[in-house]
Amino acid sequence: SNPSLLILPGDGIGQEVMAEVRRVIDWFGAKRDLAFDVSEDLVGGAAYDAHGTPLHDDTMAKAQEVDAVLLGAVGGPKYDDLDFSVKPERGLLRLRKEMDLFANLRPAQCFDALADFSSLKKDIVAGLDIMIVRELTSGVYFGEPRGIHTEDNMRVGVNTQRYTEAEIERGARAAFDLAMKRDKKLCSMEKANVMESGILWRDVVTEVSKDYPEVELSHMYADNGAMQLVRAPKQFDVIYTDNLFGDILSDCAAMLTGSLGMLPSASLGAPMANGRPKAMYEPVHGSAPDIAGQGKANPIACILSFAMALRYSFDEGADATRLETAIEKVLADGVRTGDLLGDADTTPVSTSGMTDAILAALDAS
Ligand code: NAI
Ligand code: MG
Repeated sequence: SNPSLLILPGDGIGQEVMAEVRRVIDWFGAKRDLAFDVSEDLVGGAAYDAHGTPLHDDTMAKAQEVDAVLLGAVGGPKYDDLDFSVKPERGLLRLRKEMDLFANLRPAQCFDALADFSSLKKDIVAGLDIMIVRELTSGVYFGEPRGIHTEDNMRVGVNTQRYTEAEIERGARAAFDLAMKRDKKLCSMEKANVMESGILWRDVVTEVSKDYPEVELSHMYADNGAMQLVRAPKQFDVIYTDNLFGDILSDCAAMLTGSLGMLPSASLGAPMANGRPKAMYEPVHGSAPDIAGQGKANPIACILSFAMALRYSFDEGADATRLETAIEKVLADGVRTGDLLGDADTTPVSTSGMTDAILAALDAS
């Protein structure tokens, strides 16, 4: 049977960009014989409107069964005053938690045609293609003890960085598996010079690397990693790091490449019975209420998220590259949605106009 995809468009521009992704999926079905069993359901505010909950139990159950989930974005001003327990983002958090998605993949990819958008010099970022794997379900954001208490009449804020071997290991395996599908180079970042969790991190990653003899492993202190990301980011391929360092380093790397409308992401969990990891793919951006419903949204972040699904869930790396190359071509031809215009004296294309151009480039490939 065909691999299965659950599409959850969500709210605002999530719905608009996901409609474009469906056209891309249809293209691969028709022209590349790459058929998926696609089902669609509600999440976020849209699910709240229909069911009074941001994620229906039936939707959660479906997400657990499919080969990959593709999510648009959730939230919007209409839902800002809802009770915390039914806020749109709770739907997203429930998916991540119950699917146990412990490895967050944040690529930083710079298309040559957009290198001027980077905060850095063009030659430092042109052609950049790196992947940060951030451990997502443990570390200092979850460790106990935590809280604010009073000691000697002074308030004290406490958080605890805590990692088990098993937590470090499963993320490391996800990162090494990715490296095998990419340039076979992995840099692990921690602060083993000042943190026990860092010493353990380095030790466990080194141990896991013995199962991946083809992957070249290096270690770097995370503060130096931040410097190197800005100085010479192309030295990296896959970076594996903890929840806190990954939060900061991935935002830093994202700005190497420019617009929010271009950034895909993925979150992976444990391998399922068929060997594929539990997976959810989504653009980094939100529901963009300021431009929702106007046909202005850039669909590329969401389309690149589907390209990641092709590569990392379905082992269709060649078709993922085909799609990325079509996007590269369209950008080189000067096709721009509003967010990619800068000061350029060009008329923006609409959300569907961008997809038209990408499908034409795919047809010509
Ligand atoms: P946002 O990412 O929705 O928008 C930030 C800015 O970037 C806006 O000016 C928007 O127009 C622009 N932008 C974002 N994506 C774009 C695209 N594809 N094409 C063109 N322009 C784009 O973040 P914001 O404004 O902070 O949040 C809006 C809503 O989205 C809130 O309700 C927030 O909670 C939610 N949100 C949801 C996320 C998710 O579902 N993963 C992530 C971030 C925010
Ligand atoms: Mg962040």
